Amino acid sequence: MAARIIDGKAISQAIRDELKDRISQVKASLGRPPGLVILLVGDDPASQVYVRSKLKTGEDAGMKVTLETLPSSASLEQVLEVVNRYNADDACDGILVQSPLPKALGHAAEQQVFDAIHPSKDVDGFSPISAGLVAQNRSGFAPCTPAGVIEMLQRSDIEMAGKHAVVVGRSDIVGKPMAMLLLHQNATVTICHSRTPDLAAMTRQADILVAAIGRPAMITAEHVSPGTVVVDVGINSVTDAAQAAQIFENHPNRMAVFEKRGSVLVGDVHPDVANVAAAITPVPGGVGPLTIAMLMANTVKSAEGRSQ
Ligand code: GUN
Repeated sequence: MAARIIDGKAISQAIRDELKDRISQVKASLGRPPGLVILLVGDDPASQVYVRSKLKTGEDAGMKVTLETLPSSASLEQVLEVVNRYNADDACDGILVQSPLPKALGHAAEQQVFDAIHPSKDVDGFSPISAGLVAQNRSGFAPCTPAGVIEMLQRSDIEMAGKHAVVVGRSDIVGKPMAMLLLHQNATVTICHSRTPDLAAMTRQADILVAAIGRPAMITAEHVSPGTVVVDVGINSVTDAAQAAQIFENHPNRMAVFEKRGSVLVGDVHPDVANVAAAITPVPGGVGPLTIAMLMANTVKSAEGRSQ
């Protein structure tokens, strides 16, 4: 039987609609809308697309979104200067530095920059303080993608308590916090990664399977047992015609997208998994819209904290 498709766009819209009243209340008490600053360093095309989307969604919701850009030749000091300027700015509730930073800044730069964001403005939830608060199930900012996954499961009436959740991927911004948030929902959680032997044997035990690996269509039907809820966090752009044809052999609509644009988005989950799973999040239109909604929610929460 075909899986139930979880509509991330509709859930994201519902969350953003619910924020409208709260945004009005912030405006009334602070005399200004919630303020988000996005810093984009360099010219990574995917980052430009993400940032445009965050900017538009924030402005449509009635927030003030300020875009700061620096060239890829910027120094770490210049990046930190922007962060520190907004740390000290009372009209700024949230600071987001788009990842990845240019490689020329060095491999440690990203961590140094995330460390510099004041925890009360860390609406991305990437700082070690935020990670610690999430691990201890305390109030703070959870990273937007895993927080969005929880919101999505709750709003889709998918029970987490007592279920076995398997998270594939152990990144600091998705895999690890995802596991923590599922644990706080009383799921039994297993984290798998690239060095897990016999991955399919592990993932087949999942009631809820979260794929956050960053490899197109890696989770195939053989990784999934019937009845599993599959959450696909991956957003990969496939530009190779043979790879697209192989992945979308049974999905002519998606192949038509490739033929029109020369690229097509695919998650970490193979589209044929929809024939096995009980429910699945699509790509695009699944987890992606939730990430942005949770960024808005975190920024409003930060502004509310300032207005008390
Ligand atoms: N790059 C890809 N996703 C994200 C995100 O959610 N936040 C930031 N800062 N960078 C990203």
